[in-house]
Amino acid sequence: MRAVVYRGPFQVAVDNVEDPRVEHPNDVIVKITSTAICGSDLHMYEGRSAARPGMVFGHENLGTVAETGSGVTSLTQGDRVVMPFNVACGFCKNCVAGNTAFCLTVNPGFAGGAYGYVAMGPYKGGQAEYLRVPYADFNCLKLPPGEEHEADFVLLADIFPTGYHGCELAQVSTGESVAVYGAGPVGLMAAYSALIRGASKVFVVDRVPERLQRAREIGALPIDFSQADPVDQIKEQTGGEGADKGVDAVGYQAKAQAGQTEEPASVLNSLVETVRATGMLGVPGLYVPNDPGAVNEAAKRGMLLVAIGRLFEKGLRVGTGQANVKRYNRQLRDMIIEGRAEPSLVVSHELPLGQAPEAYEKFDKRIDGYTKVILRPAA
Ligand SMILES: NC(=O)c1ccc[n+]([C@@H]2O[C@H](COP(=O)([O-])OP(=O)(O)OC[C@H]3O[C@@H](n4cnc5c(N)ncnc54)[C@H](O)[C@@H]3O)[C@@H](O)[C@H]2O)c1
Ligand SMILES: [Zn+2]
Ligand SMILES: [Zn+2]
Repeated sequence: MRAVVYRGPFQVAVDNVEDPRVEHPNDVIVKITSTAICGSDLHMYEGRSAARPGMVFGHENLGTVAETGSGVTSLTQGDRVVMPFNVACGFCKNCVAGNTAFCLTVNPGFAGGAYGYVAMGPYKGGQAEYLRVPYADFNCLKLPPGEEHEADFVLLADIFPTGYHGCELAQVSTGESVAVYGAGPVGLMAAYSALIRGASKVFVVDRVPERLQRAREIGALPIDFSQADPVDQIKEQTGGEGADKGVDAVGYQAKAQAGQTEEPASVLNSLVETVRATGMLGVPGLYVPNDPGAVNEAAKRGMLLVAIGRLFEKGLRVGTGQANVKRYNRQLRDMIIEGRAEPSLVVSHELPLGQAPEAYEKFDKRIDGYTKVILRPAA
């Protein structure tokens, strides 16, 4: 089958690889119809991880069940399904508590697994014609048959639940003001989720004009951090108090106010100042323990200069980590089915799998409006 294969820094190719097969009675093989490229894929694409050439990328996957293992009970051939990017068992201590991003079974020695992601286990990615899904009864979320809402439903694999998770970590509730840093797909979905949860005022901070425009379109207030300090801009619009809650949807590749220099702790530190005393921060943006591309020796070991003194002084609470997609994907699916949510508004491109190399390059440069790309292996 054809798949998107990592060749080395800034290089992916669509190559022929071995077809996946059922390896365990509770596996299914899914024929992929839609698979999205994520900001998280770019960390590997840029060579800032231990990803090795030959790896198949893709953790945001939707398709139809092509083959079922003998122990699968809830799925049959032809079912349309979307998989959380997390691979999870469903029965370990963390899964039972709903923390499926930290499954203790699927990746021995590490809490959490994912498809096509370095350090997240041996699971091949779904930017391919077929995907093996382990613990299939637990990991497949059934969708209505047909092709309706394909671009909305594929976002249930990651960014819609991840944006929602950012709000859950910050306990965003009715009437609150929320500052979201980052207007990439995750930031936009966090802002969208904050509005769904009844926030009164949602700010979205970025400097890419098309992305800020999308933020405006979903009903948020865009804040351009290249123009002036975002903390001042948000304080000005919250009576000098600051936002009630904050979400970091940028992570360790945060950029300085001017130019392209990275300042890995800059968003965390801006949030500490943006959010009012006793507020809460949700951090779905990625921070890693090792980053060979970081700006200094400490940052290469994942050690950042965070304003912990101010954080403590203000009594702020912080929640972090990968999103437990399974905890929210059924409810968010039903919001889509009932016409109450349309996450595909962040999708900028839908392309055949063969165009993956060009899509990676443009998405990585954030040019030509590349915000969220869906690849269609069957097209
Ligand atoms: N926790 C999870 O489960 C999970 C899941 C998916 C993605 N992620 C992470 O979420 C983050 C965002 O993902 P994405 O796909 O939206 O990425 P993205 O790179 O498309 O978006 C990041 C945005 O942040 C902006 N930005 C850079 N520096 C900034 C600053 N100082 N202030 C404000 N904005 C700034 C960029 O211009 C960009 O638009 C990444 O770190 C990704 O790895 C986490
Ligand atoms: Zn993703
Ligand atoms: Zn588990």
